[in-house]
Amino acid sequence: MRGASRQRLRAGHTGLAVGVLATGCAFTATTGTSSHALRSLSAYSPRHAPRWEHLQRYGGYSGALLAAVSGVPVLRSRFSQARRSAKKEIEAEGGFSLEPPSGTRDFFPEDMRMQRWLFDRFRETAQLYGFQEYDAPVLESEDLYKRKAGEEITEQMYNFRDKEGAAVTLRPEMTPSLARMVLSLMRAETGAIAAVLPLKWYSIPQCWRFETTQRGRKREHYQWNMDIVGVSAVTAEAELLSAVVSFFESVGITSKDVGLKINSRKVLAAVLNAAGVPSEKFAETCVIIDKLDKIGADAVKKDLAKLVGLSPEVSDTIVAATGAKTLEEFADIAGVGESSEVEELRRLFALAEDYGFADWLQFDASVVRGLAYYTGVVFEGFDRAGVLRAVCGGGRYDKLLELYGSKKEVPCVGFGFGDCVVMELLKERNALPDLGANVDMVVAAYNADMMGKAMNVARRLRLTGKSVDVYPEPGRKVKKAFRYADKVGAAKIAFVAPDEWEKGEVRIKDLRCAADTPDEKKQCDIPLEKLSELDSFFS
Ligand code: HAM
Repeated sequence: MRGASRQRLRAGHTGLAVGVLATGCAFTATTGTSSHALRSLSAYSPRHAPRWEHLQRYGGYSGALLAAVSGVPVLRSRFSQARRSAKKEIEAEGGFSLEPPSGTRDFFPEDMRMQRWLFDRFRETAQLYGFQEYDAPVLESEDLYKRKAGEEITEQMYNFRDKEGAAVTLRPEMTPSLARMVLSLMRAETGAIAAVLPLKWYSIPQCWRFETTQRGRKREHYQWNMDIVGVSAVTAEAELLSAVVSFFESVGITSKDVGLKINSRKVLAAVLNAAGVPSEKFAETCVIIDKLDKIGADAVKKDLAKLVGLSPEVSDTIVAATGAKTLEEFADIAGVGESSEVEELRRLFALAEDYGFADWLQFDASVVRGLAYYTGVVFEGFDRAGVLRAVCGGGRYDKLLELYGSKKEVPCVGFGFGDCVVMELLKERNALPDLGANVDMVVAAYNADMMGKAMNVARRLRLTGKSVDVYPEPGRKVKKAFRYADKVGAAKIAFVAPDEWEKGEVRIKDLRCAADTPDEKKQCDIPLEKLSELDSFFS
């Protein structure tokens, strides 16, 4: 028997997969096989190709489940369907919903792999630009968001009284938490920041907004934030925009797919100032103008008259200015000509030119943004196909810290970049990576007596930094262990059997080797004390 199992073990990996097909267990075997192995399988054995197509077409829940677990992309959507219908069945039986609350998401392992991949790109970009990571509680004081400019975000809060009666909310955005934390670094008496400025911080918080859910907009989302505190020059904006571009490039999105619309609230402020609008009405005015797309020019003008008290002439000028196609046209209509505000925007475009990402930027007078606290440059990422909502958005908010009690103005600028829209975009561009389950090795025991030895091997391998999964069922039938190794995405499998163990060795098989790999490199008996040099046996 031992000899038979060894014979099976000696068969090459691809050969084994074919063997499994031939036994009639084709479904689980093939769908549970890594995409790499599948590719080599169809190259090795074209006669099985029709069978694979058949599986793709007719694979049911378990096949789809295996496919999703093992990361075979072609069956992932079938897996989602299967999961949905399985849920419905269970719901009907159990009488309760298996769906997470409306507008929120479960992250199954395959979703989690994708999320990790995306967040790693966010983190790598932030670190490339010298930013430090920070975090804050998802539960914040409701007061932190009490702004009176009529912003949508303050109406969308998940707010409630806690058991001590405190008014709290799940954070709808990160910027107020950042402001709170920066303020806590300031010395109360002088208003000076104890820590060294500038601060360049990033975070990937989960944010909660009671929104109408739609494509790319949910009730919870993760939002990559990068903010610079303590730099008033527009170089900070240039640095942040460049970081956004670097991120897009790192995931294969180009300036043909996405653009960044740029405007400045300072220019608008100059217009309002010239028209005699009091500065305390500025934020409210911006929030109303931001609704242009949603409610149209007439409704905006009506609100500007009713809520801010603007004259019809000033409202007309503002609305007309937001339709300008170029910065020059905007400045002309707004009557602010060669002002310092316009000059600042020009400088930003010049910096982008020198930096090398000017092709991503486009001036857009209609971008005002809906958050009250912005005071200067504002920007928004958009997909050029015009199908999706804003990909990201940000701007300068030099007065927010004063709102929370800072004795002096602290220049701040930053952006928020949600995880939902960019995933939609990557899906549309077919640019999502194929991320299968992945462990370095599976260790399998020949029989129950060898289980402790197998665990000993696993421990030794883990000490060398390998991720190792111990196959829970000891047994001579290597077929099942191979199938399991494929399912968990293992690159190698170690069989711990008495013959080798007596010689102080363990048999290890490479599951990812090319078809033309010499036999001695497909499988090696490795002395236990050499397990730390495992890779050198296969290279
Ligand atoms: P925001 O424009 O409200 O800005 O959100 C920024 C980004 O977060 C949006 O462009 C979008 O990608 C994502 N996002 C917002 N709401 C949702 C949602 N319901 N579902 C999915 N994604 C969403 C802010 O939050 C500012 N605090 C950003 C900022 C940081 N400004 C300065 N620093």
